[in-house]
Amino acid sequence: MKRIAILVSGRGSNFEAIARNIREGRLEAEIAAVVANNPEAKALDTARALGLRAILLPSKGVDSDTYAAQVVAALAPLSIDLLCLAGFMRRVGQPLLDAYAHRILNIHPSLLPSFPGLHVQQQALDYGVKFSGCTVHFVDSGLDTGPIVAQAAVPILDDDTADTLAARILVEEHRIFSEAIALVLSGRYRIDGRRVIRLDV
Ligand code: GRF
Repeated sequence: MKRIAILVSGRGSNFEAIARNIREGRLEAEIAAVVANNPEAKALDTARALGLRAILLPSKGVDSDTYAAQVVAALAPLSIDLLCLAGFMRRVGQPLLDAYAHRILNIHPSLLPSFPGLHVQQQALDYGVKFSGCTVHFVDSGLDTGPIVAQAAVPILDDDTADTLAARILVEEHRIFSEAIALVLSGRYRIDGRRVIRLDV
């Protein structure tokens, strides 16, 4: 069974969706650890309630590379196949990128490369696009720039607010993140430049 670790900072609904998809047989994987950088993260309580290993590694006042080295050390004994960033609000430092090259996925609530960074639903509304959505991508050293594994489009309605749009995008996040994790864990893809190509084997 492939082993994943999930990095979170807050609510953790994407983590919960992954856990549910595993429980209900839609995703074959084992959650070996949930790592939170924020002591207030609700995801920590959820992980403990589900009987999962919950690791709090506070990142406040710690620079990205030092923090990444701490995460690498915490995960080293756990034989992790894939790291999943699910609402993890810190930049990933180089030690993590080195330890898990092409084995870190992030979920982002826009159709990248549009609207990287923060407050992206508001960015999409302000720009006036008619569709937004979500993206699962490999993590590299840039901000939301790695090769794209999966995307889903969500129409923007005239009366949308950032909150109503975020809620509809979240439904798609919960679906495509697990689908992307399944693809990457299966190994049935290759990366050609920026393109992630599914293999039919
Ligand atoms: C999601 O919209 C995710 O795409 C973004 O932060 C939010 C986290 O939500 N990176 P949750 O903690 O998974 O509920």
